[in-house]
Amino acid sequence: MKDEKLKILKFPDPRLRTVAVKVDKFDKSLENLAKGMLALMYKENGIGLAASQVDKHIRLIAMDLSEERNEPMFFVNPEYKIVDNHSTDSYEEGCLSVPGFNETITRPDQIELSWQDLKGNHHNIVPTGLLTICIQHEMDHLEGKLMVDYISPLKRDRIRKKLSK
Ligand code: NI
Repeated sequence: MKDEKLKILKFPDPRLRTVAVKVDKFDKSLENLAKGMLALMYKENGIGLAASQVDKHIRLIAMDLSEERNEPMFFVNPEYKIVDNHSTDSYEEGCLSVPGFNETITRPDQIELSWQDLKGNHHNIVPTGLLTICIQHEMDHLEGKLMVDYISPLKRDRIRKKLSK
């Protein structure tokens, strides 16, 4: 992948509904894509970006939850397990693919997370705080799911109309 210009797909672009495939090659092109996604995410003032959003349908996520924007994280082939289905948290989420809209979404807040880094090394943690929410939002993208799927059809339609203009 050379200096290809990455562009963020916007809802209701049907390509956002693609289910991403697992990464099995931890090579330079994966690293380049990850870096390109991170740069784009910083430029657009996002805190997370899934490869699906730039029309690359592999299981890769870039994220930075720090105030200073200097703690980049990459998740390759992430998976999570819900530890407690009854424990949830509501958060006003935004999405670079649904610009200009924030919606309060309730998600499980007790999860176990595992992933690989850009070198293919395995990691697992019990995430806390915003990471718990953000990783679920980004992993939805890898499944072709968007935050607008959590809101009422009426609201979703209103957003679709506004963004289709
Ligand atoms: Ni998003």
